[in-house]
Amino acid sequence: MPGTCVVGLQWGDEAKGKLVDILTEDHEIVVRYQGGANAGHTVVSGGETWKLSLIPSGILRDGVTCVVTGGVVLDPASVIGEIDMLEGRGVTVAGKLRLSDRAHVVFPWHMAEDAILNGSLSSGESIGTTGRGIGPCYRDKVGRSLAFRLGDLYRPTFRETFDHVFDVKQRFLEASRPGEMPKLDLDRNAVFQQYCGYAERLRDYVGETTNFLLDAAETGRPLLFEGAQGALLDIDHGTFPFVTSSNSSGVGVASGSGVPGRWINRVIGVIKAYSTRVGGGPLPTEQDNAIGEHLRQRGREFGTVTQRPRRCGWFDAVATRYTSRLSGVDELAVMLLDVLGGLEELKICTAYRIRGEVVDRFPSQIEDLQEAEPIYETLPGWPEELTDVRREADLPVNARRYIDRIGELLGRPVSIVSVGPDRAQTIFREGFPATAPCPPNPQQEQATV
Ligand code: GDP
Ligand code: IMO
Ligand code: MG
Repeated sequence: MPGTCVVGLQWGDEAKGKLVDILTEDHEIVVRYQGGANAGHTVVSGGETWKLSLIPSGILRDGVTCVVTGGVVLDPASVIGEIDMLEGRGVTVAGKLRLSDRAHVVFPWHMAEDAILNGSLSSGESIGTTGRGIGPCYRDKVGRSLAFRLGDLYRPTFRETFDHVFDVKQRFLEASRPGEMPKLDLDRNAVFQQYCGYAERLRDYVGETTNFLLDAAETGRPLLFEGAQGALLDIDHGTFPFVTSSNSSGVGVASGSGVPGRWINRVIGVIKAYSTRVGGGPLPTEQDNAIGEHLRQRGREFGTVTQRPRRCGWFDAVATRYTSRLSGVDELAVMLLDVLGGLEELKICTAYRIRGEVVDRFPSQIEDLQEAEPIYETLPGWPEELTDVRREADLPVNARRYIDRIGELLGRPVSIVSVGPDRAQTIFREGFPATAPCPPNPQQEQATV
């Protein structure tokens, strides 16, 4: 039986949470396999809004098991906060959540390191991280000697290893900020006791997850993999160094969960109908003008985790064609289409001009992307509000043209269209291409820079 994967194809916040919540209806197990509390996934249902960070967005449905695998870096305080929030609002978590004993644990020193370094690069630029200790925790995982996995918190040797790591970290933090105490109060005993408390609180949720998922896959139980961040933030394949510290494209599913790719037979690439990015790094189609402001206001483009205003721009088909291929995407979900309403013209970037040369392949070097000037194709917009549309046939013709063109440029069918945050504001397209084909776009050939 199938495994489905939902992966963001841009720089995160593509509305993966909304889609995962919807698809959970047809899946028994929902899996978070990378990233950590840097993720902020929103689900809106029946007028209620849920913000989830580490717990999979499937948790709101009954009869679902939510698994956080060893590929995730886990901040225990954050998980406990989410469990309390959910239980406090009447959602059962007990018996539905499994946390991998292999997941690496985020400690206060990781957040302090994140704050001190603040993603600063030798170039003087800043990554603009979420400050959740993600990079430092993954760095310790790869380095091995200063790392703790969730299972380590239950070992009799925890105090001893904790003291050793604490000493090293204290020296590192003092050296990083000579004469200045780190922001966080790293009181040895208090932190140790705090983490022992977290371990007790989470004891019933912690266990093995890899064999659990392999058993499930091999016995045909439907699995749903929930990607965090977006493929352009992938540590290996994204816009390095302006990336996160995990494989946030489709390539991360197998390594993060332990479930081989052969068990995944449906990869849904999630895209916003335009582009957004939070933090530093190139965004070739950025609109630092009235268009960008229109998108930010209508799309409420402010970070779920850090509340930072998101940078906004036109849809970039060069970047998303690359990430669709990278993630093995079968079909596309175009989200926040309603936000484009009211714009007279819409632009889609179909190629870059880099130092005079026209390229349609996503560059591997950040300097090339920083210099990329987008080459746009212009399509007509639509004045109508889409938020009440529930059938494809009721979409304005220009809206259908727009999503068809995206599908064409990315070489994949658009099977889902979202026109508002609520579960109900979703259109599932029957068959592809659209049953009633769109008239051709008269402006399609009109390329502008
Ligand atoms: P995620 O990190 O990919 O799960 O996405 P976020 O939750 O961080 O950001 C997506 C935002 O868009 C959330 O505030 C959603 O409630 C909202 N949203 C989702 N789908 C739509 C849509 O179709 N239209 C509009 N206007 N908002 C949407
Ligand atoms: P979801 O799952 C958008 C960005 C940060 C920063 C860079 C590195 O909600 O889509 P990190 O704290 O991971 O070291 O920061 O990555 N970033 C995200 N941007 N959505 C996210 O998650 C993000 N998680 C990290 O803004 O630029
Ligand atoms: Mg988000």
